[in-house]
Amino acid sequence: MFSRITRRQFSTTPSTAYKTVVLGAAGGIGQPLSLLMKLNHKVTQLSLYDLRNAPGVAADLSHIPTNSVVKGFTPDNEGLAGALKDADVVLIPAGVPRKPGMTRDDLFKTNASIVRDLAKAIADNAPKAAVLVISNPVNSTVPIVAEVFKSKGVYNPKKLFGVTTLDVLRASRFTSEVLGTNPVQEKVTVVGGHSGITIVPLLSQTKKKDFDPEVRDALTHRIQFGGDEVVQAKQGAGSATLSMAQAGARFANSVLSGLAGETDVVEPTYVDSPLFKSEGIDFFSSKVTLGTEGVKEVHGLGEISSYEQDLINKAKETLIKNIQKGVTFVKENP
Ligand code: NAD
Ligand code: LMR
Repeated sequence: MFSRITRRQFSTTPSTAYKTVVLGAAGGIGQPLSLLMKLNHKVTQLSLYDLRNAPGVAADLSHIPTNSVVKGFTPDNEGLAGALKDADVVLIPAGVPRKPGMTRDDLFKTNASIVRDLAKAIADNAPKAAVLVISNPVNSTVPIVAEVFKSKGVYNPKKLFGVTTLDVLRASRFTSEVLGTNPVQEKVTVVGGHSGITIVPLLSQTKKKDFDPEVRDALTHRIQFGGDEVVQAKQGAGSATLSMAQAGARFANSVLSGLAGETDVVEPTYVDSPLFKSEGIDFFSSKVTLGTEGVKEVHGLGEISSYEQDLINKAKETLIKNIQKGVTFVKENP
């Protein structure tokens, strides 16, 4: 296997040589996400794990002349332990996607045990890695990983992230479509969680600030339910994969930038958060500064409108149930 010494040899600066692992790497998200991680110069080792075809995806990507060694793993070869050894960052897009008519919560019965078992392997083989959870329902799968880590005595709240970046990308894109602006310059903070009404875009904090109420309502609804547009358009063939790969790669790059000591790296993400703990909500997405230890600072919501306050109150009612569902699952199915 790769040693830390070996991987340092591939980088000009030691602080930017990282091992990244994708669990579920042969899937709809996993393949393009692995491609984008292969193109990331901070990554010097890329390990791809899936139940099937990960060695094929790895062989394919390994011909791209960037500064990383790619290796594919299945349960039959060196398996999860081999993939995870010495990992700095682990991305989890393993699990089933939605079909039309389903909610993300409907995925819980299949994906909860997949994520729980992968979390056990991470706890055993890469307990210090930053773990980036993509598998839905994110509102519940992140608490599942936390509970598994707690049960194994390795929980570090600074290193566990639910990836909500796709909501941020959609918010930029959809807002720019409404305003006729450049989406690259349209920054929108999205807070809460990652499903329907738990997704709360803070449009009052954008450059435009004061939207006409009808436009604001329609835009907010589109950002909250943007995932449904893709699920419906794919007609049973899954959910967002390509935009999600871009979102996952952007967030992974931000985590890597933080680990590498870059300053002012800020992304909204779903983390163990102090913001609403007193109300029993242990996980919440808000802007987070990323640093060498993972989470450096969880930011508050800032000034928000009364409309947004109402949305957050509604989001909290659902979030508390989603979080409890994940916690209870691990307690009852350790
Ligand atoms: P997919 O079915 O195309 O791919 C999933 C992959 O996971 C498959 O290759 C499968 O073999 C693999 N897998 C299943 N069980 C596994 C296990 N135990 N170990 C390793 N690999 C395993 O699905 P997809 O479209 O890539 O979506 C994956 C997940 O990501 C879904 O749960 C989906 O809802 C979620 N998702 C999240 C976001 C987000 O914003 N967080 C966005 C899009 C999709
Ligand atoms: C998304 O937001 O696109 C994902 O969570 C996938 C889905 O089920 O909508």
